[in-house]
Amino acid sequence: IPLHLPWIDAINKLKKQRGAVIMAHSYQSPEIFHGVADVTGDSLGLAQAARDCDAGLIVVCGVHFMAESAKILAPDKTVLIPDLEAGCSLASSITAADVRALKARHPGVPVVSYANTSAAVKAESDAICTSANAVQVVEAMGTPKVIFLPDEFLGRYVAGQTDVELVLWHGRCEVHERFTAQQARHAREQFDARLVAHPECPPEVLAEADFVGSTTAMGKWLARKQPARVALITECSMADNLRAQFPRTQFIRPCNLCPHMQRITLQNIYAALRDLRHAIEIPADTIAGARRALDRMLAVGR
Ligand code: 13P
Ligand code: SF4
Repeated sequence: IPLHLPWIDAINKLKKQRGAVIMAHSYQSPEIFHGVADVTGDSLGLAQAARDCDAGLIVVCGVHFMAESAKILAPDKTVLIPDLEAGCSLASSITAADVRALKARHPGVPVVSYANTSAAVKAESDAICTSANAVQVVEAMGTPKVIFLPDEFLGRYVAGQTDVELVLWHGRCEVHERFTAQQARHAREQFDARLVAHPECPPEVLAEADFVGSTTAMGKWLARKQPARVALITECSMADNLRAQFPRTQFIRPCNLCPHMQRITLQNIYAALRDLRHAIEIPADTIAGARRALDRMLAVGR
């Protein structure tokens, strides 16, 4: 942290001058998460914060779909992302045309899309969900069958928790798909660790886990259980950020970094505030469609 201090001070000063709010996802590096963020959370928490935000300027430290969701929920605000290339393998696995084709193949079946999708895909969807509320949103559609996009592993996990039949897509998170059941077992057997996994992991990894949940739900589980040792089977920065909060828990790593999340740095956050770049722009009709779908998720809550 000391090396970063000049940047952290400069960002916090400029942030005040600009009247900006910095929102950081749980997978941001600790110097961002603890050093400059005003709001931290999972993708649902950041969406709720953007909807409720009073500031005219929001800087999203996360990936592009998160900045888009903030803009859709706060369309009159300026929403910046420090690096436009911070994408997501799930979001890039499906287009709006793919969703239209699926709807034509399954007439009348509602579409629930994961938040990890583009604004254009959201606008073609009936409702959005995150890993924090996927089962609840699917069941809130009130139909026996739902098209669930685009994460195949999250979809399979949700299908195991509900009687609703799901039509799935083949999207994968490039970070979570790399975890293996063998790594999970190793952490448990060698270190006597409890296993907490994100539902974007493969089914055989989730089968080994003591708890499966969104990034915020993982933090809440740790606060409740306070285990002596835990392996967080998710993006590495999550454990780095939680370590300070749970000094009595030892964090065992199997861990993978998300290259997209790591594109956000103190340097490009500073440049974003200084030059007001890169502003998220979305066509008004896309905002209107995506907003309807996001509002249905927000009505369900966590
Ligand atoms: P959360 O919804 O848990 O924040 O996860 C978002 C994400 O990108 C996980 O890889
Ligand atoms: Fe996308 Fe996976 Fe990175 Fe999350 S961790 S932003 S799902 S690529």
